[in-house]
Amino acid sequence: MCGIVGYIGPREATEVVVDGLQRLEYRGYDSSGIAVLCDGEFDIRRSVGKLQKLRERLNGEPTYGHQAIGHTRWATHGGVTEANAHPHRSTSGDIVVIQNGIVENYLALKAELTAAGVHWHSQTDTEVIAQLLDREAKASGDFVIGFRRALLRLKGGNAIVAMHRRQPGLIVAARLGNAGAVVVGLGDGENFVASDIPAVLDHTQRMVFLEDHEVALVRADSVSYQQIDGTALDKQAQTVAYDPVAAAKGGYKHFMQKEIFEQPRSITDTLHDRINLEQATVQLDSLRLSDEQLTRIDKIMVVACGTAWHAGLVAKFLIEGLARVRVEVDYGSEFRYRQPILDDRSLLLAITQSGETADTLAGMQVAREQGVPCISLVNAIGSQAARLSDGGVIYLNAGPEISVASTKAFTTMVVGAYLLALKLATLHGRMDKVTMREHLQALLELPGKVGEIVKNTTVYEELAERYRHTNDMLFLGRGINYPTALEGALKLKEISYIHAEGYPAGEMKHGPIALIDEEMPVVCLCPHDDVYDKMVSNVQQVKTRGGEVIVITTEGDTQLREMARTVIEVPATLPWLTPILNTIPLQLLSYYCALRRGTDVDQPRNLAKSVTVE
Ligand code: G6P
Repeated sequence: MCGIVGYIGPREATEVVVDGLQRLEYRGYDSSGIAVLCDGEFDIRRSVGKLQKLRERLNGEPTYGHQAIGHTRWATHGGVTEANAHPHRSTSGDIVVIQNGIVENYLALKAELTAAGVHWHSQTDTEVIAQLLDREAKASGDFVIGFRRALLRLKGGNAIVAMHRRQPGLIVAARLGNAGAVVVGLGDGENFVASDIPAVLDHTQRMVFLEDHEVALVRADSVSYQQIDGTALDKQAQTVAYDPVAAAKGGYKHFMQKEIFEQPRSITDTLHDRINLEQATVQLDSLRLSDEQLTRIDKIMVVACGTAWHAGLVAKFLIEGLARVRVEVDYGSEFRYRQPILDDRSLLLAITQSGETADTLAGMQVAREQGVPCISLVNAIGSQAARLSDGGVIYLNAGPEISVASTKAFTTMVVGAYLLALKLATLHGRMDKVTMREHLQALLELPGKVGEIVKNTTVYEELAERYRHTNDMLFLGRGINYPTALEGALKLKEISYIHAEGYPAGEMKHGPIALIDEEMPVVCLCPHDDVYDKMVSNVQQVKTRGGEVIVITTEGDTQLREMARTVIEVPATLPWLTPILNTIPLQLLSYYCALRRGTDVDQPRNLAKSVTVE
């Protein structure tokens, strides 16, 4: 998804901005651009494709100046062309703008501006902001007042950064709704603005996060803040502790590979300081809801998107199974537009790696408007989801996840949901200390077991070689591993572009069975749990129809060897934890298939890490 970086200070702004954009590459983008203010004129360079193209352009036609804004664009309105890349300049040349998000009423605004004589240079909604801002600045005789007036006319979620060529020394930034973060990085005699922490983390750890309808006026030696109506705001800086070195690949070929292998560590960090084995308790200190409030809850509404939604489905099994509290799971994009039934005993649980996914945030807003408390499982510290969580946050502590395809965030989301389920189980009187201790012990053993799975990758490399020309793959699982099957299929299609479908195995006979032949490998999740025998029957049914079966089962299994072409064994654990151990082989299978097929593993086509638009 789009990235924003702005710089103002004594250094050559272009270098700082382009380096910052590079740090945001993981978000996914299809074009990029920069505008530098120099001697009262904007120097703009834009190009289609990777940032390297922009760098090459800048090498040939350098820009000089001490304030600049840059953008990586992920196309929404208008094709992937240089003309549609940001920054956009108003026709008078006075204003440049970059934006993340969507101006929902841009057609109406465009019609109004066209009628007033504006000619257009792109097909984007962002140019509408530039032209509108130009007019409002002229009408009010003041850039900042004009900026705020223009903002008031926009509908949708937007992160907007702009400059005026006759106002050197000033970059303005605003956040409207949920189009992703606007972070102001505070330096010494220089300041930064960005859509994401890593863009500026090399320069400063002191950051201020804009809330909805807030504006920042960024100068080299000071930053001031206002509400959209002009009221001055006093905002406190936070010190962000991310280590930029941790975000580097550290010897791995891809971030995804690194993140798969990091899971023993990330799971350990999710559990850290939250388990007391001796007392058989779970401490979730960052939850603001009191035990009394949590005990009153009789319905949890989980809202999430993509992989996080799959974690939500696992959470339903965990919370309903262990705590006997009703759970409903919905996609953010669906939940926000239906009429959910929530009451004063409901709780919304948002699950999101980035904490900036627009649909998930919108779901949280819906709940908040109905007075329903929100809690969240979030990885990105200080993200909007964390800030919207009036009931508190359970941070995943997984460290930065750079690869677009989510891996360690998924497994830590499930671990976080498990901790929540155990806490609720105790509060709702559903778990004695002995059983609790068994669960906690199993959780503590989990990192070691994940470590064992990632130790040997030969089988996945062989499978990737065998299935390198395969067009379709089916993933089947039952019960708590039905979401695992969905996640396995999603991972494979995301990064290898092999068409894949995940199904609850019992549903196979209602459709997918028609697809099974010798061309269709089927991955079956068969842990030793209470639906194992049912899964064995499914494996048989696939085999009977000529399908090749890859089985993932519990260590020591003998029965399935006869039926499956490939058997992958994972260590035994409690059935509740099998989605975590079963997911790791599926991640590795996807990774090696993608590698074999030569796709862009970390930045698959058309996908974005953080989807801050609808
Ligand atoms: C995008 C990413 C997925 C992710 C989903 C939800 O589609 O490519 O990997 O699962 O967004 O993201 P979130 O940050 O809310 O977990």
